[in-house]
Amino acid sequence: MPTVIIDKNTIVSKFVAELRDVSIQTDRMRFRQNVERIGQIFAYEISKTFSYVEKEVETPLGIAKVSLPNERIVIASIIRAGLPLQQGLLSYFEDADNAFVSAYRRHHKDGTFEINLEYVTCPDLSDCVLILADPMLATGSSFAATLDVLNRYGTPKVIHLVTIIASSYGISYLKRTHPRCKIWTGAVDEELTAKSYIVPGLGDAGDLLFGAKLQD
Ligand code: URA
Repeated sequence: MPTVIIDKNTIVSKFVAELRDVSIQTDRMRFRQNVERIGQIFAYEISKTFSYVEKEVETPLGIAKVSLPNERIVIASIIRAGLPLQQGLLSYFEDADNAFVSAYRRHHKDGTFEINLEYVTCPDLSDCVLILADPMLATGSSFAATLDVLNRYGTPKVIHLVTIIASSYGISYLKRTHPRCKIWTGAVDEELTAKSYIVPGLGDAGDLLFGAKLQD
């Protein structure tokens, strides 16, 4: 499946620029709003891939033929950073069912980490359009671990992965491990730090959205 990059010369590039900018990203409400707005734009772009049925609706002046999405949509996000992106998608796909997965990196002293999944709540995914949202696609291991867990809940018709900044490494990794998924991203960055943060990226998306956490 191809990767769709919505960046250069669209309004998304302004929203992504504000998310990256150290002098703007500290405005937490604006940061969350920009993430939600990008979610809405992705929802619109993804809606172009749906199947539609023709219906008639009665207007005050007659009957109009309209075309309506004919899909069962499930939006999934990785807690906590995925929540505002999910909210943006949900504000357009208002009837969607929702899944939530908590995933976090457990770092080891040697700099490596593993993904811990602790909480999953998910509807039946059989034949649905599954949209999995997380703002940062760094190594791809959180997306991959989440997809593997969601696999227990049925086989979706199609799977869309929605992210705001992806690393080239993460895109290649997911294309190799989960080739069915279509990846939508607002930007692609080339570098990862030793701790697998995206460079230039934007920093820690979860902390910028919701505030810093204590490290254990
Ligand atoms: N998660 C983040 O919040 N930022 C990164 O750069 C990578 C993963």
